[in-house]
Amino acid sequence: MARITVLGGGFGTALAVMLYSTQQHDVTLWSAIPEEIEAMRRDGEQKQKLPGVKIPNGIALTTDLSVIDDSDLILFAIPSAYVRDTCKKVAPHVKNGTVVVNAGKGIEEDTLKLMSKVFAEEIPQALYVVLTGPSHAEEVGRGIPTSVVAASSIAAAAYLVQEWFSSPTFRVYINDDVTGCELGGALKNVIALAAGVSDGLGFGDNTKAALMTRGLHEIERLGTALGSRTNTFAGLTGLGDLIVTCTSMHSRNRRAGILIGQGTDPAAAVEQVGTVEGYYCCHAAYGLAKRYEIEMPITEALYRVLYEGADVREAVQALMDRPKKREYEKLN
Ligand SMILES: NC(=O)c1ccc[n+]([C@@H]2O[C@H](COP(=O)([O-])OP(=O)(O)OC[C@H]3O[C@@H](n4cnc5c(N)ncnc54)[C@H](O)[C@@H]3O)[C@@H](O)[C@H]2O)c1
Repeated sequence: MARITVLGGGFGTALAVMLYSTQQHDVTLWSAIPEEIEAMRRDGEQKQKLPGVKIPNGIALTTDLSVIDDSDLILFAIPSAYVRDTCKKVAPHVKNGTVVVNAGKGIEEDTLKLMSKVFAEEIPQALYVVLTGPSHAEEVGRGIPTSVVAASSIAAAAYLVQEWFSSPTFRVYINDDVTGCELGGALKNVIALAAGVSDGLGFGDNTKAALMTRGLHEIERLGTALGSRTNTFAGLTGLGDLIVTCTSMHSRNRRAGILIGQGTDPAAAVEQVGTVEGYYCCHAAYGLAKRYEIEMPITEALYRVLYEGADVREAVQALMDRPKKREYEKLN
């Protein structure tokens, strides 16, 4: 049994319940929002985000970060926009060599840095692991069979997460391609937003399948330029997460996209849905595509819709009217 502090009362609640119930760890759940902790104490569940998933009494609920002083492992599950600030607050409590796991998915919007870089800058004494893959909180919280990947450049840290997180309903694979796993998790949200737009416009399965497949191509193009392995994108953190996010109504990215496709202003759609990582990630991915001179037509089309007021139908038509191409740049 390990002492684990989980940061974040959304996806974090599902992970906390899982780690406590199936792996019998000593779990503390922290949120930056006092009202959220109070409501969970009162209701015995996270009614807003995970209705029906009971939070066992044995899980300690807190807003006090000093609980980290005694933790064997710290698990972040908070939106990427808050990660750096939270890392700064957490860092003084983290002992040298403690495993810090990030279950969030995103790219820092203004610096274009991956989360592994942000953690390395802010908590350099930690052993960093990213936990990512197709894992809706609503399903993890209910113990529905789920498979994810723990990726780290430090093999022992990844194996420790595999050991401590695995259960009969939660299967954890290991990978050492941190960049590839992080990019897959972050960028699939951009494609899910585009898939939602397609659904909102009333397009069909053909369109969505094309967006997913060609979306994966552009994710892989950027990923390999940044040093990732190609096969990472065919795995759980790439294709797997892309499928789950583009096809499910649990996905806030897809739901925001549907609203935009139906005519809602993009900023208003994001406001209505809540945390829509793909909205911010599209901005970051657009910046990375420009910086590394990578062709990312779906990301660029979505960027124009989200940030430059482009008409969605015209953006789709522009994608369809692009110069004729080979499916793969090089003949096999
Ligand atoms: N929800 C899912 O199914 C799911 C699954 C896999 C990964 N993720 C990723 O996990 C991350 C968190 O997603 P979520 O759905 O839990 O988001 P969320 O919007 O529910 O927020 C999670 C928590 O972040 C914390 N938070 C809010 N404002 C904060 C602030 N200013 N400073 C510090 N912490 C703050 C709060 O504790 C909140 O409960 C995202 O990157 C998301 O992509 C989510």
